[in-house]
Amino acid sequence: MENINLINDYKYNIEEYIKNVKENYSCQNKNALVITHGCQMNEHDSEKISWLLEKMGYNLVDTIEDADFILLNTCSVRHSAEDKVYGQLGNLKHLKNQNKNMKVAVCGCMMQRKESREYVIDKFENVDIIFGTNNIFRLPELIISNYETNSLAMDIDESMLRTDSDIGTNRLYKFKSYVNIMYGCDNFCTFCIVPYTRGRESSREPDDIINEIKNLVKTGTKEVTLLGQNVNSYGKNLDKRINFTDLLYRINEIDGLERIRFMTSHPKDISDELINAYKDLDKLCNFLHLPVQSGSTRLLKLMNRKYTKEDYLKIIDKIKNVNPDIALCTDLMVGFPGEEEEDFLETLDLVKKVEYDTSFTFIYSKREGTRAAKSKEQIPDNIKHERFERLLDVLYPIQLKKNTKLIGNIEKVLVEGASKNRSDVLTGRTEGFKTVNFKGNKKDIGNILDVKIISANTFSLNGDLIES
Ligand code: SAM
Ligand code: SF4
Ligand code: F3S
Repeated sequence: MENINLINDYKYNIEEYIKNVKENYSCQNKNALVITHGCQMNEHDSEKISWLLEKMGYNLVDTIEDADFILLNTCSVRHSAEDKVYGQLGNLKHLKNQNKNMKVAVCGCMMQRKESREYVIDKFENVDIIFGTNNIFRLPELIISNYETNSLAMDIDESMLRTDSDIGTNRLYKFKSYVNIMYGCDNFCTFCIVPYTRGRESSREPDDIINEIKNLVKTGTKEVTLLGQNVNSYGKNLDKRINFTDLLYRINEIDGLERIRFMTSHPKDISDELINAYKDLDKLCNFLHLPVQSGSTRLLKLMNRKYTKEDYLKIIDKIKNVNPDIALCTDLMVGFPGEEEEDFLETLDLVKKVEYDTSFTFIYSKREGTRAAKSKEQIPDNIKHERFERLLDVLYPIQLKKNTKLIGNIEKVLVEGASKNRSDVLTGRTEGFKTVNFKGNKKDIGNILDVKIISANTFSLNGDLIES
């Protein structure tokens, strides 16, 4: 570990470092690739990393073969996510042997975990730069340090208090954008590593959020997705008295913005005010992602989720009363330690009662450092997989049924792109976040169009464009 070069002088001027890299390390002739694992938080962080790279003069490329600098933005949420990164680092070892000038950086949630970080440092001497989720802004400085010392440059912020820095965003799409409204998580669900990788909850100032969105709208954004691990607790650490619903009302006032989404919402903090906002706010999309994890009140308690099955179903009833057409999405987990067949049947029962439009389904993965990892009642893999398949067997027919109900409707679709194989087939999202494919012209990418739904599959819809 002696080759780690921790940077301690903290006289910070990001522009200086960017200029230094650009002028002294001929980055104009270098190609960089950012590979992103994990959730929207990481996707958005990668947009910030890409912005920095372009400012330093790098050309952004799409393939490993074309890249001189490869950055892996990692996720720790499940074991499989970490294994993928180790596999990629193994492959990069060979590539680096062929191209001695190649640089490799590893960042993101895995690097916030001491065990994963030390494993990477020990096993992959090909890694040049390591930084944590709170240290993106120090990338230019780390590049300089690595070139100067020809040894690992690393910066991890253990304090876990995220502060906003002056980093722009190289947006993947011009017309839809992620906006962080808060960082971190204080909930400590017993299965989850995120509070350890993303640190304590902290909300951004509302004026900063509003200004960011106004600027995004000026450059073409029609839809924003507000990001936070638990957006319903927005504002708790701010001096001003503002909550998440207040923030939504303010964002809804922004001229030129057409759609507002948010993720993720925690059932324990969802308020009646927020539910009513679905009636009042014309820009708030007809969609709610409300992770339930399990239908068993006994397991929910062991998970530290702080709501019961009945509480959750009550929220769903309220929201359906306010907005009967809302599209509902959830996260579900099978195989949490101690899960009995009865608990699993409660989950199936809840799924049938709610009738989700879409879902993210996971097999519990033991994460060292979390409370659930210490449980002696880990579920054998064969039972986890069998329950997982049974869960999908219930979820998918419901999804198909709900999609089929949309046939004949005219939906507003934000066009996101064209099909890879057929440029006359466009693909976009309804307000309810459903993918719709239809024939159209590529010039409409980024526009919101009326599309009549003509057929439905489990994961997507087909439609006909209504010519205006
Ligand atoms: N903050 C969000 C919430 O509480 O709903 C969830 C964010 S987490 C990154 C996304 C999902 O990953 C969780 O809702 C959970 O279903 C799943 N997840 C988290 N830890 C997991 C684990 N140890 N094994 C399997 N799935 C996990
Ligand atoms: Fe993880 Fe729970 Fe926080 Fe979501 S609310 S990020 S599941 S600890
Ligand atoms: Fe997201 Fe994975 Fe980190 S799910 S917050 S990138 S651990």
